[in-house]
Amino acid sequence: SFPADKRSRPTARTSAGARAKASAPFDPFQAELTTMPVAQPVKATKTLEQYQITMRPGTADILAGQPTPILGYDGRFPGPTIHATRGREVQVTQSNQAGRNLVVHLHGGVTEHASDGHPMDIVGAGTQRVYRYANVQRGATLWYHDHSHGEVAQTLYAGLAGFYIVNDPYEDALELPRGEYDVPLMIQDRSFNADGSFRYQLDLDMGFHGDTILVNGAIAPRMKVERRLYRLRLLNASNARVYGLVLGDRRETLQIAADGGLLPRPVKRTLIPLNPAERIDVVVDFRQFGAGTEVILHNPSGEATTQAVMRFDVVKGGAEEAQVPKLLSELETLPPVNAARKFVLSFQSAGTAMWQINGQGYDMNRIDCRPRLGTTELWTFVNNSPHPHPMHLHLAHFLIRSVDGRPPGPADASWKDVVAVQPGSTVVVRPYFDYYTGVFPFHCHTAEHGDNNMMGQMEVEE
Ligand code: C2O
Ligand code: CU
Repeated sequence: SFPADKRSRPTARTSAGARAKASAPFDPFQAELTTMPVAQPVKATKTLEQYQITMRPGTADILAGQPTPILGYDGRFPGPTIHATRGREVQVTQSNQAGRNLVVHLHGGVTEHASDGHPMDIVGAGTQRVYRYANVQRGATLWYHDHSHGEVAQTLYAGLAGFYIVNDPYEDALELPRGEYDVPLMIQDRSFNADGSFRYQLDLDMGFHGDTILVNGAIAPRMKVERRLYRLRLLNASNARVYGLVLGDRRETLQIAADGGLLPRPVKRTLIPLNPAERIDVVVDFRQFGAGTEVILHNPSGEATTQAVMRFDVVKGGAEEAQVPKLLSELETLPPVNAARKFVLSFQSAGTAMWQINGQGYDMNRIDCRPRLGTTELWTFVNNSPHPHPMHLHLAHFLIRSVDGRPPGPADASWKDVVAVQPGSTVVVRPYFDYYTGVFPFHCHTAEHGDNNMMGQMEVEE
């Protein structure tokens, strides 16, 4: 039972799109998987790489002969992939030609306040600003996306998302698959109007759920893979959909990394849960399949049209040099816990309906907690609502301490920046405030929840 959340209000459904004629769902595996263009620095030295990106409208070729209008980084959907290197600064000049105010957040980035992409810290329409990323953190699959206050559901849906991959000399020394065998896969759901445009329908409770799955901007595509090892960097860049990914007839994959980079050891997975904003890197050994095999990555728990995610078409491969070491990384020893805090997640239906943390909606002038730099804390999330909340902290990565009193499984026992808190459940995490001081938000990453006030602020102090 959810005492704090009894309500009978019907689900909010607004938007002109909801009334427009929708097109039928599409056949999967028609399109070839594409990879996003790799952003090229305009200037690079040993210590600094500078990029120039323009946020602007564009079109995407998703449906045959019917361009889909999008809003994208460099006008692309998805945006270009930025490859950064640990210890080498990246500066991205983001120029806003989108005709509206925007904010760029590097999700999972250990970023100083001025470049974090705080929801109120806008790049005004027609202006530009330089975001600085020191890349002090270890290797990890990050992503950048819009963070406009109250409008992420629209801007993310319109296309403002791209990968940002931190390469790490330590990781390079391992013999993991690399180059063309290291594949970023951005998974999103969309619906379409009959004219080919994205169809959006506000659902304040569940968040948006589309009827079609896209990977790297193509409808359930197919990809030729050689009989060898591949690293797949899975990112759920959907507004709200939760995936439970299965390869073929429940084949084993090896998870090697989570949000914050390499796990201590690889973990066998036959079901890969992927909550909004989460990243999971798996290595798949396609040598277990004969040439000519078609292996489907699917989402069995989805509705009928959202079960096919993509297909791997296995072809012959050359000699394999990559391997997955038994030991991937080591967790550092952490400073002791300095404070314990509790955050109750609930829905407020009286008056203006909104999602709340500790009975309050987001207020940019309120600081909810003041962690001290160089310490760890215990944060307890209690979900008193009937929907899951993928809770995300800017700046600080955390370890999951417990889920309903039990320690996490091995795949969740390393650095994370998103944790799903299920209805009625209690999750304790241990963030480490190890790099920067300043004001940073924490929020639910279901875009429609974060937009509707499910956000707080911490100020990390000296
Ligand atoms: Cu990916 Cu504040 O979010
Ligand atoms: Cu939520």
